[in-house]
Amino acid sequence: MASPRESLRVVIAASEAVPFSKTGGLADVAGALAKSLDQLGHDVTLILPDYFLLRQGQTNLPSIVDAGLRFSIPMNGRAVAGAVNWTTLPSSSVRVLLVRQPEYFDRRQLYQEHGHGYVDNCERFSFFSRGVLEICRQMILRPDIIHSNDWQTGLVNGLLQTQYNGRPGFERTASVITLHNMAYQGRFWHFDMPLTGMDWKHFNHNQMEAWGDLNLLKTGIAFADQITTVSPTYATEICTPDGGYGLEGLLMHRREDLVGILNGIDDDVWNPDSDQHLPARYSVATVTDGKSQCKGHLQRRMQLHERADVPILGMVSRMVDQKGFDLVTGAAERILSLDLQLVFLGTGDSNYEDQLRQLAARYPGKVAAEIGFDESLAHQIEAGADIFLMPSRFEPCGLNQMYSLRYGTVPIVRKVGGLADSVVNFESVSESLDTATGFVFVDYSRDLLAETVEKAVALYRQPEIWTRLVRNGMSRDWSWSRSALEYVAVYRKALERRKRRSP
Ligand code: ADP
Ligand code: GLC
Repeated sequence: MASPRESLRVVIAASEAVPFSKTGGLADVAGALAKSLDQLGHDVTLILPDYFLLRQGQTNLPSIVDAGLRFSIPMNGRAVAGAVNWTTLPSSSVRVLLVRQPEYFDRRQLYQEHGHGYVDNCERFSFFSRGVLEICRQMILRPDIIHSNDWQTGLVNGLLQTQYNGRPGFERTASVITLHNMAYQGRFWHFDMPLTGMDWKHFNHNQMEAWGDLNLLKTGIAFADQITTVSPTYATEICTPDGGYGLEGLLMHRREDLVGILNGIDDDVWNPDSDQHLPARYSVATVTDGKSQCKGHLQRRMQLHERADVPILGMVSRMVDQKGFDLVTGAAERILSLDLQLVFLGTGDSNYEDQLRQLAARYPGKVAAEIGFDESLAHQIEAGADIFLMPSRFEPCGLNQMYSLRYGTVPIVRKVGGLADSVVNFESVSESLDTATGFVFVDYSRDLLAETVEKAVALYRQPEIWTRLVRNGMSRDWSWSRSALEYVAVYRKALERRKRRSP
């Protein structure tokens, strides 16, 4: 626990966080990191957009009240008003400030509809980022650290080091950005530059411009005091042309300020021993019985044949190229020649959604596909499946493989990013019975995926070995406190760097 002298005032800015809003892992991470820093004794404020319409009818939220704060941001010649709602993150004393701006945030989704990003995304998230600093100023939060996440809040780092540099309340504030995914950079045409509130002089190749466009992720990387990403392997990958998506040069340049910190698991949300979404709860001691109840329930719910002896392979994911769906659909016939069941939950590209729907229609009782976002079903698949598929093309960290390990569901993953850092491959009984937690394949190939599934299913038929894999995985420690301590170390480095660059 940090002593009062060592305690930091941290503001985390994110475009989504559990339990308020979620499209993917960023939401899990933003909520869990805030809570863990709070548990370590730091003073944490989490600032999010208020997706007011989307939270209507959500029953799991704490009560949210008007904080009484109003601000206004000049956006392309008109003053846009924002209001702030306030609440506390459940099971913590983290202050949560929700930026209410109905025109920007009362939408059906967070970022896109029908596969197309909202055309005013630059305006929406520039407003939000500018709002974050205005809120810090007006509420006299005097943060030591402002921590932004992904392109949606990359502008925060830029504004702090320019417009807000040295202003009252920001004299010693340093900033950090976490890169959750280099494939999404917030690229907009240069005419959007005035929306950012940054001077045109920053529209240059070292700061905000990339390949002719305004790039908000680049802005964050260029101006942050420290940069983190969500696994050590991904930190290396993004410094190469394959992983950096055009920003590898800048990342190489900032290599000394870049560190990979593996995400953790929020134990209050993802714990099979207390998970309220499950029909039966279980621990490592009761996993066999607990999982078989969850499996029967999942088969009934998804209209799969109710058979205890057949392995279920599960996948819960955004249905996008990143996640390796072309491998899965490409290998499906070969995989389905085995006696097993497949269950999918996800939304995303309509071609993957359609292909999986068709697969389910062709194999009734053997393949089930739920196209949609369903938190409860996600938990039930983690618990009810025997094997979890994550054959990602790239994966900055990946949370589902960790949830799978925690739920005794043996993951099959490709050796990239955080998947490589979190799953230990089963080589053979003599080599890795005590350490293996799953199956790791290297080349991005549908045959290799199918072969790995065959290997896993063969081992599933040998319960004495399989149980070892299950228990090895369940016994690993993925608690957030470990990662949160690493973030605190990064915050201190950021403060040091900030001091050095003080006027
Ligand atoms: P990413 O952030 O790239 O989508 P992660 O593995 O880090 O991948 O995190 C994904 C998170 O989103 C997990 O908590 C997962 O359970 C959840 N998720 C993804 N798709 C769905 C869905 N269709 N329904 C419910 N939860 C989902
Ligand atoms: C991103 C990545 C995913 C990571 C998540 C949380 O969405 O795709 O790998 O786990 O962010 O950091």
